[in-house]
Amino acid sequence: MTAQLINGKEIAQQRLAKVAEAVEKRAAAGLRKPCLAVVLVGDDPASAVYVRNKKLACQKSGIESLSYELPAATTQEELLALVEDLNGNPQVDGILVQLPLPKHIDSQAVLETILPHKDVDGFHPYNVGRLVVKMPLMRPCTPKGVMTLLESCGIDPKGKKAVVVGASNIVGRPQALELLLARATVTVCHSATQNLAEEVAQADILVVGVGIPNFVKGEWIKPGAVVIDVGINRLDDGSLCGDVEFEAAKARAGMITPVPGGVGPMTIATLLENTLHAAELHD
Ligand code: GUN
Repeated sequence: MTAQLINGKEIAQQRLAKVAEAVEKRAAAGLRKPCLAVVLVGDDPASAVYVRNKKLACQKSGIESLSYELPAATTQEELLALVEDLNGNPQVDGILVQLPLPKHIDSQAVLETILPHKDVDGFHPYNVGRLVVKMPLMRPCTPKGVMTLLESCGIDPKGKKAVVVGASNIVGRPQALELLLARATVTVCHSATQNLAEEVAQADILVVGVGIPNFVKGEWIKPGAVVIDVGINRLDDGSLCGDVEFEAAKARAGMITPVPGGVGPMTIATLLENTLHAAELHD
């Protein structure tokens, strides 16, 4: 068997086109353009690329973006003051503070300062809690983007065995909650999991987000499984690869996301959907 490739780039473009259409409809009804404030602290090159791609996607879909690029020496007080200013700005619908932040800043304190209705990343504990109690408000972009990919490929997680590898706040934990909401039977694996290969072999749907190149071996994968690789790792030769051994996994899986061009574009498309949603809450 060779797996069908899941084209995240194309699915994301379709979603962006829908956002653009909704933005135009708002304008026709006399409503403001949604506006996203993007905050980048320091000079991490990968973060700079992500932020640039987020701002470009805003432009393409008619969403306004405000950009705040702050030096690495910015203090926590200065960053909190900016977030509070954006909270109080009626022109701003969504606030995104790119992670990771420099080590001297308490990221959680920053995330908890963003008003939950403007928290387009869905990282505020209020939004995490809303997902836990099956009443999501703002949903974390990468896990929600993965659910959109599954839906676009006609895969209903209900009753399926889903295995999530990685238990981070950005990917693994909210991914498990999204899959549970969609009524899958969910197992979360992490660095203390024993017999990882055995757990992975149970998965009808496998989502991997650990940030380690080729961590999940192709031979672990259940034949016909749907494999979603959230990892984007840069190798020494400059090329990108995921957290799953792509070629070996492709030989066993039913469907698989490539890296790049799989989950990455979906994260951005979901961010813009969330910004539109934030503007609707704000009207
Ligand atoms: N860093 C890596 N992924 C993300 C994300 O989805 N949102 C933010 N704000 N920072 C990130």
